[in-house]
Amino acid sequence: MRVFSYRANFKHLSVASLLFALVILVLYSKCNNERPQSMDSFPLISHDHDPGGRRLEDSGGGHELSLNNQNGGSILRYQPIECVINSDYTIEGRREGAEVFLPFSFIEKYFEVYGKIAEYDGYERFEWQHSYSKIYYPKEQYKPDGIFMSFDHYNVELRDRVKCISGIEGVPISTQWGPQGYFYPIQIAQFGLSHYSKNLTEQEPRVIVYENGENTAMPGWLLGNTKSHVENVLDEEKGSRVIEFITDTGSPSVTLNLKNSEDFELSFDFKCFDNCTILVILDTSDKDKYFHIHYTTSREAISRRGTHIYYGLGSCRSWRTFTRDLLNDLRKGVGQTNGKSVKKAKVSLRSIVKLSVQGFGRIDNVKLSTTAHMAHFYDAANWLLNNQDKKGGWPIWITRILIDEMGELPPGWYSAMAQGHAMSVLVRAYRKSGKPEYLKAALKATYPFNKLSSQGGVKAVFLDKYPWYEEYPTNPSSFVLNGFIYSLIGLYDLMMTASDEDRVEAERLYREGLTSLKALLPLYDTGSGTVYDLRHITTGVAPKLARWDYHTTHISQLQLLSSIEKNSLFQNTLERWIEYMKGKRAKHN
Ligand SMILES: *[C@@H]1O[C@H](CO)[C@@H](O)[C@H](O)[C@H]1NC(C)=O
Ligand SMILES: *[C@@H]1O[C@H](CO)[C@@H](O)[C@H](O)[C@H]1NC(C)=O
Repeated sequence: MRVFSYRANFKHLSVASLLFALVILVLYSKCNNERPQSMDSFPLISHDHDPGGRRLEDSGGGHELSLNNQNGGSILRYQPIECVINSDYTIEGRREGAEVFLPFSFIEKYFEVYGKIAEYDGYERFEWQHSYSKIYYPKEQYKPDGIFMSFDHYNVELRDRVKCISGIEGVPISTQWGPQGYFYPIQIAQFGLSHYSKNLTEQEPRVIVYENGENTAMPGWLLGNTKSHVENVLDEEKGSRVIEFITDTGSPSVTLNLKNSEDFELSFDFKCFDNCTILVILDTSDKDKYFHIHYTTSREAISRRGTHIYYGLGSCRSWRTFTRDLLNDLRKGVGQTNGKSVKKAKVSLRSIVKLSVQGFGRIDNVKLSTTAHMAHFYDAANWLLNNQDKKGGWPIWITRILIDEMGELPPGWYSAMAQGHAMSVLVRAYRKSGKPEYLKAALKATYPFNKLSSQGGVKAVFLDKYPWYEEYPTNPSSFVLNGFIYSLIGLYDLMMTASDEDRVEAERLYREGLTSLKALLPLYDTGSGTVYDLRHITTGVAPKLARWDYHTTHISQLQLLSSIEKNSLFQNTLERWIEYMKGKRAKHN
């Protein structure tokens, strides 16, 4: 899987402004690796610096920088000095006596570290980070109906590679590996798990009901012209009173004022007889101010014409409930490009002005709420329920090439990570709703674990001994670590939920997988970080070092596992991997 990267934040701040924020390079071995404790001991040149890029010869002998320290005492003198890097190239540094300082922009690239000037408590300091990623420590022992890892911090729909949340299914459409957009079960499951987790960690939402059919006087509704009609009627399918509307095609003449500047999750029940559109008018921070989101009965995912954004809800011949995050729908609409990713749209929402209905249809339970996590969670769970195939899998309809040496996965492959994530979603849906179909689907999801990757399953065997569940069922095998552990978590959720009789299979797969993990985990440790997979072992190519956000995923996963399986290997590995994030390395000989 891919996780959100925090890297951009640091990059922006550091590149330009920090060219000559000078950092001590330990040249003469005296230095320890503690951070400077105060300004006094670490004077920074902040203003009086050379703007960089100058050749050394140009700076001449007179280019000497000096400044007073805080005590007004000694005067420090810095002189330019040419620094020869590995006999390959030179850069300009600064010399102060026996100490040499190198530009942070150089250090940053050379060592892949991060830094920025931060100002608080009345003065500036330079903050150095060995890694750009953050560890979230779990607050409690992992439970199959609890928070999923640290997914309460995820915001799947915001990601650039999410084209939009589909109108018909209410789940993300991915553009990660193909610009056309497709349903990616891993992303859908993560969307569900993040909303489920947020439901457990966030404040209770405010819910404002604008229409529920109970007040037959219909105080909120306005008619724009005489051809339009709106009426409170008894709906037989629902067995309750609802609003029926008829307007000319395309005329937004029946409206309900919403005027809400705080609660941006819209939900409504809706049935269409002919040509319906639900139009929501938004007051935004954009220069064009008003945007119109049209929820139509088409099947198109998303399109935009000027300030008009269109989402298809499908034909809606019978009642359905929709829950739309209007801010996200606006941002995805504004950010649409023809290319692969959606541009991050900075636009914000000032208020939801009104909703109007067009065509011939019925609407009920119009609400705005601060959040609607469980509605989004069930959209994900229901998508998984409705899109599982007969073999228990969620085929992925995209060609995937991990590396050329492993060939390509043609459309229709299964992923153990998708299977495991789906189990985690479905088990939670079952535990919350009590509906047995969710549990049945989760049990079926174990089928591909018993088939080898080469036979259309997800199982690999390391050195003919250790079974491994593959995120990417490549040949030769890839042994991706994070996807494997997610599949174990799904199996654990399932075995802790199903009856004694039904759980046997999940438990066996979990136990065997755990044995493999204990045997193979040390192979992922580089002594200063982790590797993403074992491609270097199975194909002989260079190892794939895990980015810091993957490294923190590995850490979060081990934290989760060691909360349910007391094991000293997990505990020791975890402590070491956490220290790598601060630059600590394993000992050398
Ligand atoms: C969580 O979901 C329950 C319904 O299952 C709901 O009553 C509650 O308000 C939700 N809380 C939050 C913070 O989303
Ligand atoms: C529905 O829309 C189509 C196409 O715009 C139009 O031809 C048709 O007359 C409309 N039906 C009604 C009842 O307005």
